[in-house]
Amino acid sequence: MLKEKKILLGVTGSIAAYKAAILVRLLVKAGAEVKIILTPAAKEFVSPLTLSTLSRNPVLIDLVHEDTWQNHVSLGRWADIMLLAPLSCNTLAKMASGTCDNLLMAVYLSATCKVAVAPAMDEDMWLHPATKRNLQMIGNYGNIVLPVESGELASGLIGEGRMMEPAAMVEWLKKYFSAGQLLSGKKVMVTAGPTYEPLDPVRFIGNHSSGKMGLAIAIELEKRGATVTLILGPTSLQIPALFNTIRVQTAAEMFDACEAVFPNMDIAVMSAAVADYTPIVVNEEKIKKSDAAISIALTKTKDILKYLGETKRADQLLIGFALETSDEENYAKKKLIEKNADLIVLNSLNDVGAGFGHDTNKITIFDKLGNTHYFDTKSKKDVAEDIVNQIIQL
Ligand code: CTP
Repeated sequence: MLKEKKILLGVTGSIAAYKAAILVRLLVKAGAEVKIILTPAAKEFVSPLTLSTLSRNPVLIDLVHEDTWQNHVSLGRWADIMLLAPLSCNTLAKMASGTCDNLLMAVYLSATCKVAVAPAMDEDMWLHPATKRNLQMIGNYGNIVLPVESGELASGLIGEGRMMEPAAMVEWLKKYFSAGQLLSGKKVMVTAGPTYEPLDPVRFIGNHSSGKMGLAIAIELEKRGATVTLILGPTSLQIPALFNTIRVQTAAEMFDACEAVFPNMDIAVMSAAVADYTPIVVNEEKIKKSDAAISIALTKTKDILKYLGETKRADQLLIGFALETSDEENYAKKKLIEKNADLIVLNSLNDVGAGFGHDTNKITIFDKLGNTHYFDTKSKKDVAEDIVNQIIQL
């Protein structure tokens, strides 16, 4: 399953670096082509000679070697995946901040391939809030963070922070590449975030959507091989440079972008919280306050999902969302039919840990064949996996 897969292994300064030799041996045995970059600290922990012999490729350490310059851009383009194992606390912090002070960081920052990391550190470092924040940041950039294991640590203590075992990493890579095949060649558009409907130059009508769920879906789709176009309302989320992102502000702009892009797509996932109403008049000047009560006349926006449902071809899949506060299942099923969607993903604001702004969500999926799939509260990343699995089922 790893035959001819190009794996760029980054090894950083951690006691677990000796396991990189076992990992390389297993990868080469599984048919992968492995190139290795060490950080300067890593060569204190594992010998470049061992790794170059096992990988049958020279091991790279420095950006400049004697009078030649390593082309870091071409390395990141060569690889099908870049795997940093073990990932030290120090390199993790550099990934989070974008520090470019060695060859490995230059390759990471310019890599166009998927990047996965296998952290290894002592439990106290692993549990430090700075580590947690850095892991979350690199996850938001679209990197895959492999879980750590519990057990005996270099300090002699027992706890969390051991690097995933090399054999488990190879199994994970096999799964990653087989899952990656399923949506390759598919073009998918994802709408995400809120829309802002302007009232005047300083005010708007908006909603609490953060765009996190849509972004997690876009990242998951890309991981499975899809080419993703993200149509994104106003949000402060950091968007990885993995997909073509079209930024919009209003429901009308989101409609125009969707109308233009959809004919070219195989799948559309409509997770944006689009305003249903917009002010009829947008004041050119700031509305001044007075003692009298004011009312704002609103008009309905176009329902983008409904429009796409009316125009979709038989070879296209349309996935809608339903955010409900009461009679959830009935409203969701109604939306599935009325909007001619293939799947409706229901979020209920009555579920703890679901909805706007949270890092978790709880969903129920209704498909057009009449099946209902219930899921527990999970991280938005795991929810995105469940949604993409259902799309693949279709
Ligand atoms: N949607 C859309 N265009 C709109 C409004 C909603 O494409 N103008 C899409 C959303 O992206 C979502 C689905 O329709 O995929 C359902 O959105 P939701 O707000 O739950 O329902 P509405 O159709 O707006 O109906 P209501 O607000 O009455 O529940």
